[in-house]
Amino acid sequence: MALAQKVISVENIAVELNGRMVLEDVSFDVRQGEFVAVLGPNGAGKTTLFKVLLGLLEPARGKVSVLGKPPRLGAKEIGYAPQHRTLETDLALRARDVVGFGLDGHKWGIGFLGGRRRSAAIDRVLDEVGVCHLADMPVGRLSGGEQQQMYIAQALITNPRVLMLDEPLSNLDISHAREIVSLLSGVSRSRGVAVMLISHDINPLLHAVDRVLYLANGHSAIGSPEEVITSETLSMLYSSKVDVIRSGGRIFVAGAET
Ligand SMILES: Nc1ncnc2c1ncn2[C@@H]1O[C@H](COP(=O)(O)OP(=O)(O)O)[C@@H](O)[C@H]1O
Ligand SMILES: [Mg+2]
Repeated sequence: MALAQKVISVENIAVELNGRMVLEDVSFDVRQGEFVAVLGPNGAGKTTLFKVLLGLLEPARGKVSVLGKPPRLGAKEIGYAPQHRTLETDLALRARDVVGFGLDGHKWGIGFLGGRRRSAAIDRVLDEVGVCHLADMPVGRLSGGEQQQMYIAQALITNPRVLMLDEPLSNLDISHAREIVSLLSGVSRSRGVAVMLISHDINPLLHAVDRVLYLANGHSAIGSPEEVITSETLSMLYSSKVDVIRSGGRIFVAGAET
């Protein structure tokens, strides 16, 4: 089988923030329709890497290409859901309003897709992620999992070819996290969209992802979970002893967080 087309290519990038090298030498690629988990300790530069791919940050060196071009802000081929967004209960916005914001970051958004067509696009994408019955619900009343479904709908509404999700599982228990992951693997298959998902835990993702990109110490490792999440690879990446323990179908990484 021919390999799917590369949608993201990163070659030896370094990123400096306030005089500190956050990423020193990171390389990987992502292919069309691939599901990649982005892992690594707090502060490893996972969010920073996403900002580079979105064109929000310029690497100090190295080469980045997204869909064959340098990253650029507001590209509608990229669907993005940022980190840390749990909405407060008194917020009057409805789920459909929040999903509609996904169109407004693009110049062909609100003007081009007005009225009934806009509303139909919102309904379609809410249905795709399984929450069309919540379209008119104030977002503050949605559960954590439902809010994530809504944000995935928001990120999908421009029909992107790459979906980038920053810690969508962080406030969910394991069963809700698994539901979101299986939703995403379905979306990735049916749309052929590449998914990059940042997580601090591989376990809810273990059976769904094609590959993992592990960031630590400014460096990266990419491969299947079996290749990357091993004591040997992670000890090398962290430059210190890391123990990977596999037990009951789960993986535990010990000694990695500093
Ligand atoms: N705008 C910024 N200016 C300076 N340092 C930053 C900025 N944003 C993030 N950092 C630092 O860069 C490092 C990587 O941050 P981040 O990419 O958010 O890590 P992660 O998402 O892996 O937890 C952290 O040490 C963080 O404090
Ligand atoms: Mg982060």
